[in-house]
Amino acid sequence: MESWRKRVLMFKVIGALPLGGAVMSWLRHNRAGLKNYDFSTRTYILDDFSRLLEGEYLDVEGASFVEIGGGWHPVLSLFLHGLGAERIVLTDIARHMRPQYVAQTIDFVRSHGADELAARGVRFDRDAFQGRLDALRGSESEVFDRMERVGMTYRAPLDFTRAPFADGEFDCVYSNSCLGYIPVPVLSEIFAETSRVVKQNGVVVHSIHVYDDFCGDGSEIGPVNFLKYSADEWNRIGNSSIHHQSRLRPKDYVDLATGAGLAVEVEDRIFKRIPDFDVENVELHPDFQGLPEDEIRCRNLFLLARKPVAQSVG
Ligand SMILES: C[S@@+](CC[C@H](N)C(=O)[O-])C[C@H]1O[C@@H](n2cnc3c(N)ncnc32)[C@H](O)[C@@H]1O
Repeated sequence: MESWRKRVLMFKVIGALPLGGAVMSWLRHNRAGLKNYDFSTRTYILDDFSRLLEGEYLDVEGASFVEIGGGWHPVLSLFLHGLGAERIVLTDIARHMRPQYVAQTIDFVRSHGADELAARGVRFDRDAFQGRLDALRGSESEVFDRMERVGMTYRAPLDFTRAPFADGEFDCVYSNSCLGYIPVPVLSEIFAETSRVVKQNGVVVHSIHVYDDFCGDGSEIGPVNFLKYSADEWNRIGNSSIHHQSRLRPKDYVDLATGAGLAVEVEDRIFKRIPDFDVENVELHPDFQGLPEDEIRCRNLFLLARKPVAQSVG
């Protein structure tokens, strides 16, 4: 059996267990490297978000942010904090963050963050950045309290289709590597909520994986293996309650944002860091045949949309 199919089988079996979530969490902690995490695998986030961090779309300093699907390690959020964000709410449908993971992430960003930003040409106040990260040092068990004191709040589990925030509460709604794992009907609701909670002229920034993430190191399949199948077939053989890939293409996300009343300003298709391939030579289900090559070959979509300022009537 191909290794990706074994992974799906494992997800399906664990997902069917009464305590499947806890089993998955144990496996991730003990077997999938979360305990001793290698943060060098995550610095690509800074490449993808460097223009946000530099303040090209909004002034990070003093702004309020909310993240959808914060995951296990608050890498991007800690950079935003270091750059002076006033308030950051990290949300997730599941409570993945543990004090140990957060403390490790703080150590990484404290030790390497300023150099990583400088290496990408981001202009920032190095002393201020370092001071904000240094202030988060302390005992592991109180790490969430310390974050809270500097304006970083972890709220999980939280369902962003019914976000408990006021209209226009945030300058920026963002996510990394999250939206591609959300079923389409849920995603439409998330975009609607996003459009509600972001301020007028505020921004929505998502970096979205659009390749098949069963295509890993040494995998026998390519980055768009999942596009061989019909929607029904893929739901049956590829998706599970623990791991879902919607297979939306970049243009679909642009349409979702536009449909939610947001004005898309950037839709960068990013191609690097997955094995390159010739679209002519991959098998595609008719649903995906005839799409522009960029819609198939792209690894990530970097999407930036702005909430239009309402025009006053009269
Ligand atoms: C691949 S992880 C990425 C985590 C993190 N953003 C990062 O870059 O490391 C995807 C995250 O999306 C979250 N997620 C999945 N479905 C979600 C939903 N419907 N609403 C909010 N978060 C969701 C998962 O719990 C998980 O934390």
